[in-house]
Amino acid sequence: MKNNEGGFTSSFGAIAAAAGSAIGLGNIWRFPYTAGANGGGAFLLLYIVFVFLIGVPIMMSELTIGRRSGQNAVGAFRVLSPRQRGWMLVGFWGVLTTFFIYSFYSVITGWTLDYVVLSCSGGLSGKTPEEVSAVFREFSSGSFWPIFYQIIFMAITVAVIMMGVQKGIEKSSKILMPVLFLLMVALCIRAVTLPGAGEGLSFLFKPDFSKVDGKAVLDALGQAMFSLSIGLGVLITYGSYVRKQDNLFRSSIIIASTDTLIAVMAGVAIFPAVFAFGQDPTSGPSLVYETLPNVFNSMPGGIAFSIAFFVLLSIAALTSTVSMLEAIVLFVMQEFKLKRVTAAVLCTLATLVLGILCTLSFGPLKEVTFLGKTIFDILDTLTATYMLPLGALAIVIFMGWFYPKKEVLDEVTNQHTLKAGFFKAYYFIMRYVAPVALLCVLVAGIVASFR
Ligand code: PHE
Repeated sequence: MKNNEGGFTSSFGAIAAAAGSAIGLGNIWRFPYTAGANGGGAFLLLYIVFVFLIGVPIMMSELTIGRRSGQNAVGAFRVLSPRQRGWMLVGFWGVLTTFFIYSFYSVITGWTLDYVVLSCSGGLSGKTPEEVSAVFREFSSGSFWPIFYQIIFMAITVAVIMMGVQKGIEKSSKILMPVLFLLMVALCIRAVTLPGAGEGLSFLFKPDFSKVDGKAVLDALGQAMFSLSIGLGVLITYGSYVRKQDNLFRSSIIIASTDTLIAVMAGVAIFPAVFAFGQDPTSGPSLVYETLPNVFNSMPGGIAFSIAFFVLLSIAALTSTVSMLEAIVLFVMQEFKLKRVTAAVLCTLATLVLGILCTLSFGPLKEVTFLGKTIFDILDTLTATYMLPLGALAIVIFMGWFYPKKEVLDEVTNQHTLKAGFFKAYYFIMRYVAPVALLCVLVAGIVASFR
């Protein structure tokens, strides 16, 4: 039961869309501060191992499940496992996770948009670090403006979704991803030519293994899954649009490599500048918003770079929010038989409600906490540390132990027209390596949170 809209028209379109999903705030906002908090180089190494050892096989599995079934995350399991309907729960879990992630993610997208405007209007330039922090705190703890920008960003996202898979998602990704890459190259060149860049680069690339503890391992895996958009069925959804003749193994490698490249480039663009201007690399989620403007202020041509950076961040975020909303929308469209436009509006309104609560958790609802965490922090940790690994574990068990091996082989080799040299390794990882690794991480995560 293919959806009747038609999917991606080319292999490049599919890769651009999936890479667009993967490359987002996760690479440019979350990766640098998570790496910063976990010691830099050693974290990067750990991260890369997780991306290629576990991430790529899971990504390929999701694309396979999607393409084989032609369905949203829930429908996919119904089609592939018609007798054991319980697997559909994995799909529901994924849609719920996506809903949570989109809600808190949209807060940061709103900030980003505000920073584009601030950079253009010179609202950040000529300020001392204290004043820059004050601008950030005042803005993020408010109600009207952060919600205003959040709504604008969600409106742009839903507009792309309403244009459909080919004219909306595929077309925008094909244009925006190359632009993003060029902007990133420009920023990197600027950063590494700053005096004193070496210190930042060695922070990022020189592994200090004394910094690697259980938390770093946990953070690295969570970050890898978040950044690759895996474990929640978003790539099942995109997989359902991938052409039958595309090579899923090759695509997965390209998507994961580009995603990792952009994360590393974000580190290269950010850390040298942070060190060159004496800022703190471990300052956390506000690194990009409180630290970087100082960096831009103290370099020649800073305003142009500031605008370029926040535009880049917005582009990266948009192709990601589009993929999240699409996953929820396709689920609603197929399962409740609604039109694309209706589903898109309903899903956006639902996310907006939770999204606004997340925005307010930086201001008026700051005191509303659970185990010391605000609504935003709860959703961030809950999804990246627990829901994604659990969702991924279920997907891995489905592919490695439940879905017939013959069918998997059939789909990933395009009915045996492609060589399958990778298949043995892939299947071994899906059966043994990935489940054990995910289980360890999950247990460690749960234990750590109760200590
Ligand atoms: N991968 C995206 C990023 O790095 C975030 C994302 C997570 C997108 C889950 C879709 C699904 O920003």
